[in-house]
Amino acid sequence: MSQDDLKRRAAEAAMEYIRGGVIGVGTGSTVNHFIDLLAQVKHKIEGAVSSSEASTKRLKSHGIPVLDLNATGELDLYVDGADESNRHLHLIKGGGGALTREKIVAGASRKFVCIADASKLVDLLGTFPLPVEVVPMARSHVARQLVKMGGTPVWRKDFITDNGNIILDVHNLGIMEPVKMEQQINNIAGVVTNGLFALRPADVLLLGTEQGVDRY
Ligand code: 5RP
Repeated sequence: MSQDDLKRRAAEAAMEYIRGGVIGVGTGSTVNHFIDLLAQVKHKIEGAVSSSEASTKRLKSHGIPVLDLNATGELDLYVDGADESNRHLHLIKGGGGALTREKIVAGASRKFVCIADASKLVDLLGTFPLPVEVVPMARSHVARQLVKMGGTPVWRKDFITDNGNIILDVHNLGIMEPVKMEQQINNIAGVVTNGLFALRPADVLLLGTEQGVDRY
């Protein structure tokens, strides 16, 4: 089975969490499977709140109404992928650069179901470089602070986020204390947010495997 097949398995398993209403939708190749499946039950939901321009485009292409989070209030369900997860369901996200809107929608949702292939489960977060969204004028300042924290920030070239900012991908962080590190990085002036989802972790993790779906 390919990695993409495993992603689809996880997305299929997330469908059972849908109870109607407005669904929060993340970003990425795993979520793309979820969006395609959501299209099959679109008559049962009111619409979706999207975490990126890319997901908005895909949702609209299926005729799924995309709603403004300011108008919907809190959501019952948010479904999104991850680049890494530990067993506490602390995540690294933002490989696709959509981390800020993803964190907003996750924070506004009562249940966060994370979907991924089994390779995303790790003992220690940080092998995947941690994405940090930064206001452009603060790029060098933020990079220096990240170096002081032991990281090696790399400017993601030719990439601008949906919010008009840049991304620094921080290598070489062995993240022993995800909650603390999430707070520390967010406290640097110029950081919009970072890709650690530990203050608001996932509530459920669905991992596609060769045998089926592992649930945490
Ligand atoms: C985008 C994300 C994605 O959820 C993450 O990168 C995983 O992507 P994929 O499902 O393509 O493996 O955080 O910002």
